Amino acid sequence: MKKTWNIASIELENPVVLAPMAGYTDSPYRRICRRFGAGLVYSDLISSLGICFNNEKTMHMLEFDPEERPVNLQLFGAIPEKMAIASKVVEKKGFEMLDINMGCPAPKITKNGCGGALLKDPMKIKDILQAVVESVAIPVTVKIRIGYSRDHINCEEVAQIAQEAGVKAIAVHGSTVEQGSKGKKNWDAIKAVKQCVDIPVIANGGVKSIKDFFAIQQYTNADAVMIGRAVIGRPWFFKLVDRALDGEEPELLDREKVNPDVLFQTIYDHFDLQLEYYGDELLAVREMRKHLHGYFHGQPESCRIRDQVNKVKNKKEMLTLLRNYQNTFF
Ligand SMILES: Cc1cc2nc3c(=O)[nH]c(=O)nc-3n(C[C@H](O)[C@H](O)[C@H](O)COP(=O)(O)O)c2cc1C
Repeated sequence: MKKTWNIASIELENPVVLAPMAGYTDSPYRRICRRFGAGLVYSDLISSLGICFNNEKTMHMLEFDPEERPVNLQLFGAIPEKMAIASKVVEKKGFEMLDINMGCPAPKITKNGCGGALLKDPMKIKDILQAVVESVAIPVTVKIRIGYSRDHINCEEVAQIAQEAGVKAIAVHGSTVEQGSKGKKNWDAIKAVKQCVDIPVIANGGVKSIKDFFAIQQYTNADAVMIGRAVIGRPWFFKLVDRALDGEEPELLDREKVNPDVLFQTIYDHFDLQLEYYGDELLAVREMRKHLHGYFHGQPESCRIRDQVNKVKNKKEMLTLLRNYQNTFF
C-alpha cells in the first residue's frame, strides 16, 4: 500500500486516520495520536450553530495546537447559510481542512435534521455542501454512513453528490445510521463508493487489529483507513500500523504488548496536556477518567483501578493514584 496520499494539495504522511469521536478526540488526544504517527486527525463533531452564536464552550473546541497538524475540524448542522458562516470561522482559525458530519445517529443531533438524518435528504446534502465549499478555500471533506437504514443504502448517490459539490475526500463508515455502532460492517458498500468517485475514499468501521487494517484497505481499495474505538487508550496502535506499512509483519505486531514505560509516559503526557488545555483541574480529571478506562483495559486489577479513577477529584490525587498503581504492578 502506498504510504503518502493527498487530500487536495495537502500531503498526508501515512493513510492511518484518527476517527472523530465526541468526548475523546479533543486537542490533547489529537496531539497524543499525532505523536504516535496518525497521518490525519479529526476533531469531535462541533455545532455550526454554536459557532454562529459564539458559544463559549464551542469556541473553546476550536482551539488547537500546531502539533496536531494536519487536523480536520468536523462540523455538524443542517442550515446551509449557518454552515457557511461557521466554515469561514473554522478556516480563519487556521484548520487546514473541514469535515461535514453526515452520519451521527445520536437523537439530539438527528432530531434537528443534522448528522445521519441528512442521509434521508440528498437535496439538502447538496445545498449544504455547495454552500460550505463556496465559502472557504480550504478542502472540505464529508463523513457519511452507507445509508440511513438497511432498506435505504444510498452512499454511492451521496458520494457522487459530494464530489460534484467540490468535496475533496469522503470517509465512509460501513454501517447504517439505524445500526449505530453494532452489527456487521458492510465493506461492499465502501468498495462501491470507491468505484464510483475519483476523490480519495477513507474506509471506516470495525478495525481492531493491523490485520483488519490491511483487510479493509485491500477489500475496498480505499486510499486510507480511519480508526476509532480501537485507539481509545491505545494511541500507539498508529505507530504499529506505520511499522507494518514499512514492511514489518502484521501478525507479529498484533501480538506486541505495550511497554509499561510507554503506557505510563503516555498517560502522564496526556494528563499534562489535558491540564494545559482545560486550565481546570476537575475538568481535566473528568476528561482523563474515560481515557484511563481505555489505557487500563487488560491491565492488572483494571476494574479496581477504574473504580478508583472515578473517585479522583484533583491533580494531586490523580498523580498519587497513578504512581501507586505503577509502582505496585509494573
Ligand atoms: C464515543 C464515540 C464518539 C463518536 N463521535 C463521532 C463524531 O463526533 N463524529 C463522527 O463522525 N463520528 C463519530 N463516531 C463514529 C466514529 O468516528 C467511527 O465512525 C465509528 O466508531 C466506527 O469506527 P470504529 O469501528 O473504528 O470505531 C463516534 C464513535 C464513538 C465510539
